[in-house]
Amino acid sequence: SSHLPEGIERTFVMIKPDGVQRGLVGSIISRFEQKGLKLVGLKFMHASECLLRQHYAEHEGRPFFEPLVKYVQSGPVVAMVLEGPDAIKVGRLLIGTTDPSKSPPGTIRGDLALQTRKNLIHGSDSSESAQREIELWFGQRELVGWEKDSDKWLL
Ligand code: TYD
Ligand code: MG
Repeated sequence: SSHLPEGIERTFVMIKPDGVQRGLVGSIISRFEQKGLKLVGLKFMHASECLLRQHYAEHEGRPFFEPLVKYVQSGPVVAMVLEGPDAIKVGRLLIGTTDPSKSPPGTIRGDLALQTRKNLIHGSDSSESAQREIELWFGQRELVGWEKDSDKWLL
């Protein structure tokens, strides 16, 4: 968003139903916290089919689209917005590559997942998609700007 300081971005991250079912919510959020990204939005919810179709609109028509929507709708998810320097790229780096079997150790998918169709987590891939996804998943009032005291040791 335009009100953020120079170089500071917001990204949308979602822990998919496999992450919730496997009890990995805390560990996954921890990785972003430990890196220094700041939580500015967080909620636990069951995403509707309508929301997921919009969320994954860029993939509509591809063979994995319908199974993907069904899978992410199969249980509750954790949706969050993370803020920090280069947050979109940093978020994607922590998450790893789409196929967990090719994602290096040290990444969330590389350490905790095995296959593309259950790859635990979503992260925005560009500033355009970050803005679109944040607006789709969160209302203005659900986003909480705050000053993180430990930023003085980090930024
Ligand atoms: P994509 O946006 O390409 O991956 P990423 O999540 O890394 O941004 O695809 C969205 C999701 O769709 C992906 O996380 C898992 C699923 N998917 C498949 O099931 N099969 C595929 O071949 C691809 C490319 C994605
Ligand atoms: Mg993507």
